[in-house]
Amino acid sequence: TTNRTFTMIKPDAVAEGHSGAIIKIIEEAGFRIVAIKKVHLTKERAGQFYAVHQERPFYDGLTTYMSSGPIVPMILEKDNAVADFRKLIGATNPAQAEEGTIRKQFAKSMEANAIHGSDSDENAKIESDFFFAGLEQF
Ligand code: CMP
Repeated sequence: TTNRTFTMIKPDAVAEGHSGAIIKIIEEAGFRIVAIKKVHLTKERAGQFYAVHQERPFYDGLTTYMSSGPIVPMILEKDNAVADFRKLIGATNPAQAEEGTIRKQFAKSMEANAIHGSDSDENAKIESDFFFAGLEQF
């Protein structure tokens, strides 16, 4: 059944001018863009988004990185959206990302890994609501 996932193109990929190329890959893979914007998070707002990782050793670096420049958050729609999108982006660690995935092509490190993809339907909804008002989600 058709459902939704949430993604963001991360600061390194946006700064290097890869947003268009990444969006093209996403659309050609059959995802419909429901909502899209460009925003620059403060470190505090990035910390709220990644609050589940608060106790992890990489939390401070992650929130510094995610607030280092503008990002492009999007809500995407497709059959089996969450799982299919995670397949399209590849492993978190780009060294393990499969050939043909977005991270294989654009990620530079575990932290600067070009793109985010929600890991469940529930988190997709929470993450979408973090960035987009109800009226923007049609
Ligand atoms: P993302 O899927 O957006 O969600 C959590 C992020 O934390 C992940 O992408 C990585 O960018 C980052 N991350 C996860 N594990 C590590 C790690 N071991 N070291 C640095 N960053 C990490």
